[in-house]
Amino acid sequence: MPEKIRPMDALLYLPQPLVIVTAGDYEDASRRGGMTAAWVSRVSWSPPLLIVSIVPSRYTLELIKEYGEFVVNVVGKTLENAAYGVFGTKSGKTVDKFVESGVKARRGEKTRAPVLEDAVIAVECRLVKTVEAGDHILVVGEVVNAIKFSDEPPSIFMHAEFLKRLTRPGDTRQ
Ligand SMILES: Cc1cc2nc3c(=O)[nH]c(=O)nc-3n(C[C@H](O)[C@H](O)[C@H](O)COP(=O)(O)O)c2cc1C
Repeated sequence: MPEKIRPMDALLYLPQPLVIVTAGDYEDASRRGGMTAAWVSRVSWSPPLLIVSIVPSRYTLELIKEYGEFVVNVVGKTLENAAYGVFGTKSGKTVDKFVESGVKARRGEKTRAPVLEDAVIAVECRLVKTVEAGDHILVVGEVVNAIKFSDEPPSIFMHAEFLKRLTRPGDTRQ
């Protein structure tokens, strides 16, 4: 039987990639950061553009705007713990996530931003513009360099827990 789905819950049915977006200067421990992101998409072939949708209060967004560049590190099995843990839960304002997670990192080739060597690929981007979209900011980046590190399949993020919750009694979200 077809069923009506609440508009906000409809978004949970879209599978997303799992990445760690890094920014700042890897060589400067006081001005580097990174965050897990699932709201990521390619948006243009020519020039090659992608977007990351970011909550305005994120420290990583502050660094992206300040440096005008960032790296999208595509997560596979090896990086999943760091993505769901340190990079997806802590704030770079108070924690050096590169030290805390123990990930292997270095400066980018075309950007100063951290490149994660445990990623499947690292995609270096120049910030083209930011666009307000509801309660998020869309960061539009042009791909200026890409480094492939492994043949691991990229991880896919699905809101599995949320999907389970949709059928639970007592869920009063609108
Ligand atoms: C699986 C997963 C996906 C996430 N996706 C996003 C996202 O797309 N956009 C966003 O703003 N935050 C997202 N977050 C939350 C940030 O990664 C988290 O708030 C992080 O601690 C922000 O760090 P920062 O303040 O140092 O930038 C996600 C977290 C997880 C665990």
